[in-house]
Amino acid sequence: MRIHDKAAARLEELGVELRLGISLSEHTSLEIGGTTDMLLLRRHETIPDVMRLLQDEDTPHRFLGGGTNVLIADGELPWVVLHLPTSQPGMRVEGNAVFVDAAADLGGMVTFCAKRDLGGMEGLIGVPGSVGGALRMNAGAYGTQIGTYVREVDVYRAATGKIETMRGNDIRFDYRHTSFAPDDMMLRVKLELPSKPYNEIIAGIRVCNEKRRSSQPLNQKSAGCIFKNPPGGSAGRMIDELKLKGHRVGDAMVSDRHANFFVNAAHASCSDMLKLIDEVRERVRTAYGIELENEVIVWQN
Ligand code: EPU
Repeated sequence: MRIHDKAAARLEELGVELRLGISLSEHTSLEIGGTTDMLLLRRHETIPDVMRLLQDEDTPHRFLGGGTNVLIADGELPWVVLHLPTSQPGMRVEGNAVFVDAAADLGGMVTFCAKRDLGGMEGLIGVPGSVGGALRMNAGAYGTQIGTYVREVDVYRAATGKIETMRGNDIRFDYRHTSFAPDDMMLRVKLELPSKPYNEIIAGIRVCNEKRRSSQPLNQKSAGCIFKNPPGGSAGRMIDELKLKGHRVGDAMVSDRHANFFVNAAHASCSDMLKLIDEVRERVRTAYGIELENEVIVWQN
């Protein structure tokens, strides 16, 4: 999808930086994704105007966070992509409260807080992606989930066309799911964290890092776990039991380290990855009678 010249000029007046014809494979951890125009939203306060303009121009759009939990279609894409600039995101501490821009790196936020003796989020240290993406999905690992600590979120809400501050208590945080609307755009969060000495936090972080290194394919191109765990079960264990580690469609492959991680072994296309997902889902359905639900978010045309 291409922005036409008149809209481009107006967007630039609104502080939007345009990156034309970029490949989203360069913005996703799977290194899969087609081509489109990217709009870098440099000024939060102009977002309502930007969104109104896109609406007036009938320009379909999607919002991309850190790109670590998304599988994007190949080829020329039918929507422009909105993105928050990641350079120098704001992070500020006031007592036990931390104010963080959604564009911040999640791991960077955990260590920033640790250095100020604020803990609780040790389990999230190796989860790749942005704070905004973590909020939307209620990212979690090793018994920690970000939702526990959320007190307020500044969100652009497509439903009202305004930036609103939502209270943590009014947001539902479930397992890899939240009550945010699909077109809500996370902008900033206020977390409240327990005080904890830096050394203790770092010790906890080391344990989680070690567990992750020993069980997950960290140096390969992936989007983390492909499927949610079914209630009381483990998608990884079931896929492993079916001896599907190493199974591939083109360059899309079930990791031989963790069976719920599907990796791009070289130049996998989105359609390879989708075929692999469907094949594995089908095998699990046949063997266990369980329908696995995607954990990865799929953007198809
Ligand atoms: N297992 C196998 N074979 C495998 C993988 C796992 O037998 O190939 C077994 C393990 O031995 C263990 C059980 O399955 O007994 C669960 O495995 P693991 O501890 O690795 O956790 P998981 O349930 O597969 C979840 C999250 C991860 C998170 C880890 C650690 C989901 C879908 N996955 O994985 O999150 O890092 O726990 O807390 O909830 C993600 O969200 O993308 C993600 C990777």
